[in-house]
Amino acid sequence: MTNSALNRPVRKAVFPVAGLGTRFLPASKSVPKEMLTVVDMPVIQYAVNEAREAGIEHFVFVTGRNKGVIEDYFDVQPELKATLKARNKAEMLDVLADSQPEPGKTSFTRQQEPLGLGHAVWCARDIVGDEPFALLLPDMVMKSSNGGCLKSLMGVYDDTGGNVIAVEECDPQEVSNYGVIKKGRTIGAGFEIHDMVEKPMPEDAPSNLFINGRYILQPEIFRLLENQETGAGGEIQLTDAMLRLCETQPFHGYKFEGASYDCGSKEGFIAANVAFALEREDTGPIVRKIIEDMLGR
Ligand code: G1P
Repeated sequence: MTNSALNRPVRKAVFPVAGLGTRFLPASKSVPKEMLTVVDMPVIQYAVNEAREAGIEHFVFVTGRNKGVIEDYFDVQPELKATLKARNKAEMLDVLADSQPEPGKTSFTRQQEPLGLGHAVWCARDIVGDEPFALLLPDMVMKSSNGGCLKSLMGVYDDTGGNVIAVEECDPQEVSNYGVIKKGRTIGAGFEIHDMVEKPMPEDAPSNLFINGRYILQPEIFRLLENQETGAGGEIQLTDAMLRLCETQPFHGYKFEGASYDCGSKEGFIAANVAFALEREDTGPIVRKIIEDMLGR
């Protein structure tokens, strides 16, 4: 494979949203966890906005049973639009328009069994086809003052091509929750990766740099995921396929400087709500007041 073939534009993004969300029961019994809101926007919309900001044109959702409302959410609601128009609610019409992908720019497929992230990604293979793609794990909501995480990854990809993933530092005791990488030689804004492991014990981890849920991957990953054996937790792990991919293709990392919130956990979800609410004009003052009152200031 020539290097130019590994430099093609990234037009599509995959969003795995089939997870059951057991950590959010009872809410997730009938509301997909991706539809829970951080302030007033569903978690999934943060990832879609981040992808859009990075220039992604087509949005591929890997859903599961009881997730149909995600597809409805990205459709237009003519009755709602008509009512808002009749009531001169221009601002709300703008909010709706902003959240709306263009016609024909979304695709939905289903992961029929919960076999792991690697399997979910593999389920998108036909829709993605033979081109590089972005992958965003929507549970991870990113906050950054100078451009989104995927946009920064795209910047590294422009220089390096191949595969690029974002990492962050965590407490060394928490590495067993994540995929963890070993950092190699620095290249521009990124660095080489030759080793990674999914959910290692702290004593076996190659570093405390964890994979934070933003990836740019070449389509060869699909072939590696096909018939892949299960790994950590008895699941088909994307990290295992990426480790094999870095034997044959350039693989780089980028250290994200913003904050990420794991909205698949209660702690992360609440932290995201407070962090985003605090910096908004409409909600910031009340959140600040509650915090100050509670701290007795
Ligand atoms: C997945 C990935 C892991 C990554 C994490 C980020 O794990 O397998 O490599 O670090 O997302 O949130 P999961 O959270 O699905 O267990």
